[in-house]
Amino acid sequence: MNISIIGCGYVGIVTGVCLADKGHKVYFFDKDREKLKRFIAGEKIIFEKGLNQKFSSAKKKGKIFITKDLYEAVNNSDASFICVGTPLRNKKINLNQIKSVTQDFTKILHYKKKHALIYKSTIPPKTIENFCIPILQKKLKKKLNDHIKIISNPEFLREGNAVYDFENPDRIVVGINNISSKKIMNNIYSKYRKKAKIIYVDIKTSEFIKYFSNSFFSLLISYSNEISNLSQKLNIDFIDVLNAFKLDNRLKSKKKNLPDMINYLKPGIGYGGSCFPKDVKTFVNFSKKQKNNLTILENVDKINLNQPSKIADHILKEFKKKRLKKILILGITFKENTDDIRNSTSIKLMNILAKYNFDVYAYDPIFSKKDFFKMKKIFNSKIKYWDKLNFKQKFDAIIINNKSYQNIKILKYYNQKFQTFIYDSRRILDKKKFKNYSGVSINYFKN
Ligand SMILES: NC(=O)c1ccc[n+]([C@@H]2O[C@H](COP(=O)([O-])OP(=O)(O)OC[C@H]3O[C@@H](n4cnc5c(N)ncnc54)[C@H](O)[C@@H]3O)[C@@H](O)[C@H]2O)c1
Repeated sequence: MNISIIGCGYVGIVTGVCLADKGHKVYFFDKDREKLKRFIAGEKIIFEKGLNQKFSSAKKKGKIFITKDLYEAVNNSDASFICVGTPLRNKKINLNQIKSVTQDFTKILHYKKKHALIYKSTIPPKTIENFCIPILQKKLKKKLNDHIKIISNPEFLREGNAVYDFENPDRIVVGINNISSKKIMNNIYSKYRKKAKIIYVDIKTSEFIKYFSNSFFSLLISYSNEISNLSQKLNIDFIDVLNAFKLDNRLKSKKKNLPDMINYLKPGIGYGGSCFPKDVKTFVNFSKKQKNNLTILENVDKINLNQPSKIADHILKEFKKKRLKKILILGITFKENTDDIRNSTSIKLMNILAKYNFDVYAYDPIFSKKDFFKMKKIFNSKIKYWDKLNFKQKFDAIIINNKSYQNIKILKYYNQKFQTFIYDSRRILDKKKFKNYSGVSINYFKN
């Protein structure tokens, strides 16, 4: 099929490149001219494992086009994926990008015989029904539904693993209001249907499923963080609690495997990124509008907001005792294998620590010195980028915020060579294997 991708961010680029790799002809468009220029020039717009190879091979096969003209993208395609951002503004979801792109489509679709408009962006339940369709209906009138199909298809990929996730979906959720839309989606995802079931529901249910899913994983994280804050006070390492809990047969499949979600129960500095914080808040607000409180999720959000300062207090107390002043923080982005720093709890943590007079250096294998200077404003001015990987430079302590391979290598080197103190803010490491180790839910340094 011919497909257009509207919005070349993390979701748009991964979706488009993977679909092109499966043989569809894909037209990319973004209203950010600067970004498009870089994209056309072959620059990397986002970092994701395996993305470059897929992009190059699909481009060579003539499956990828990048255009500055929305008309060209839509007119050449049978279906468009809307992948624009839905950020928070003043703690509320801002649908301006959805509104503007929907308005643009009314003009183009007016002249088009047939098209499918597929909303992939995360939007609250009933947004398509109550916000997008009325905009489209004004101009398209009867054409809507008969010739122009409106579809919801939320995305579940995880940054850092995005290409793998898109290629190996657990399920593909599709919201439709017209049975004939099934044919379009079955065609688009024809090469994925062996791997995953396409779940067809109505449009609002599809939007709802996405919020339930992200809220559930956020809930696991905040649940564990809140309890591990308590266990730490009692000198109980929450990892020991978790290891015992993991043996419960009720968690296991018939093959005795543990589900991946167990990893969300590891104590840490809280969740970040562009999705969980935004989606939990939006779900809470959405629910309030329905005169219904999501009390659990309100607290999930509160716990998460406080977690970096709780961990900073712990670090402050422990580091003062040991007189640790010069610290290297490994991991700047919100998690490993991504260059995305939106709502990074690592940055929150380092900004708090820099205020406490620590001498803070930061490093991330994916977030370069150049990126750091570009975004300098969001970092405390005292934070320095550890750019030359100068292994002779000594640090009193290293705080590890993510488990990227390079970070672990640096940390192992320092711990072996200089017995540098390690603080594990996400409980990534096996504490038995390290000297001078502490971390979330451990009350003091083990020598
Ligand atoms: N990032 C993720 O891991 C992830 C995962 C699942 C779902 N989502 C959801 O997908 C959506 C996109 O997320 P993202 O992280 O890719 O966002 P992003 O901010 O990285 O990208 C959005 C892009 O849309 C472009 N855009 C804005 N208005 C436009 C318009 N009118 N026309 C064309 N382009 C326009 C922007 O310039 C930007 O390049 C959001 O709703 C998000 O919640 C994100």
